[in-house]
Amino acid sequence: MKALVLSGGTGTRLRPFTYAMPKQLIPVAGKPVLRHVLENLRELGVTDIGIVVDARDRRIAAALGDGADLGVRLTFLHQEQPLGLAHCVVLGRDFLGAENFVLHLGDNVLPEGIGALAARFAARRPAAQLVVQKVPDPRRFGVAELDADGAVLRVTEKPDRPRSDLALVGVYFFTAEVHRAVAAIAPGRRGELEITDAVQWLIDAGAEVRAGEYGGYWRDIGCAEDVLACNRRLLEGIRPALAGGVDAASRLTGPVVIEAGARVTGSVIEGPVLIGAGTVVEDSHVGPYTALGRDCVLRHAGIADSVTLDGVTIDRVGGLTGSLIGRAARIGRARPGDGRHRLLVGDDTRIEVAA
Ligand code: DAU
Repeated sequence: MKALVLSGGTGTRLRPFTYAMPKQLIPVAGKPVLRHVLENLRELGVTDIGIVVDARDRRIAAALGDGADLGVRLTFLHQEQPLGLAHCVVLGRDFLGAENFVLHLGDNVLPEGIGALAARFAARRPAAQLVVQKVPDPRRFGVAELDADGAVLRVTEKPDRPRSDLALVGVYFFTAEVHRAVAAIAPGRRGELEITDAVQWLIDAGAEVRAGEYGGYWRDIGCAEDVLACNRRLLEGIRPALAGGVDAASRLTGPVVIEAGARVTGSVIEGPVLIGAGTVVEDSHVGPYTALGRDCVLRHAGIADSVTLDGVTIDRVGGLTGSLIGRAARIGRARPGDGRHRLLVGDDTRIEVAA
């Protein structure tokens, strides 16, 4: 089986971070979202992976190379415009050939893996095997209606009035029959070729389309809150590892990973916490549920339930929580006695000061 991973798109809800990088490269628990996806596929034994990226953006290719260090072989497919998930399947036609494949959205994280789902598809080989999960508000997802036996009766993309609470997870298993479907459909109301319309086309054509409910953790990384929630969840599962230095004056509780070249002095680290390579933490309180990127510097800082990207400096600022801090951002104090705040913030930035 091959895989098609979708990593194009615009990521507008994750601005300002997506001005600097595609959303699939935003790190959760120390690794880009996309790496979590590719590791899941490798665990399935799928190593021949086509990856759809924005044709003008070389950053995903620069971050992943040919996939060799992950043990997979990546073929980059360049999409000129984000014309929809089914358009990506059209783009992948030559790469996929006549093989069965798994379509995995590059912003969907399923840390418990997708092995059971793949086995279900392999056992029965329907034209399409969807993955669904009950959600409180299905309106921001594709929604499936099933019969009692797991056959899919209807799928609708982001309906105003959902007829079920089963959201489509961004993992789909297809046989080559889907190529006829994506070639036959027209753009939907978002102006995109929707994969849900291709699935509906298969149902209407009498093909077997099934769905299995996913009981594990699933998150679509659409906005900053998703990054933080997913980070929390993934950090819960980290295995403690201390490759960096910790002095005797520091106190570590709970699972903590300190990567090589990182240094912690005079600090309290309240796990789960991940401290990236080369990062320096002095006289600070970090955690719980915090992942610091590489080469950050924290001095007299306090941060919990947060993610910092690489090269961040936090100097004498405490009480940070629920924060997502972009690359090389500097957070510090104003001049003593000034009594005023000074902000040099980029477009679409969000700041919430203590009330
Ligand atoms: O996350 C699950 C949901 O994903 C499903 O419930 C929906 O049925 C499905 O349509 C999809 O909805 P989203 O609105 O979340 O899709 P999004 O535009 O975020 O795109 C998903 C991924 O595919 C993301 O990594 C970007 C990539 N993409 C998207 C488009 C539209 C492409 O590579 N090319 C594209 O043209």
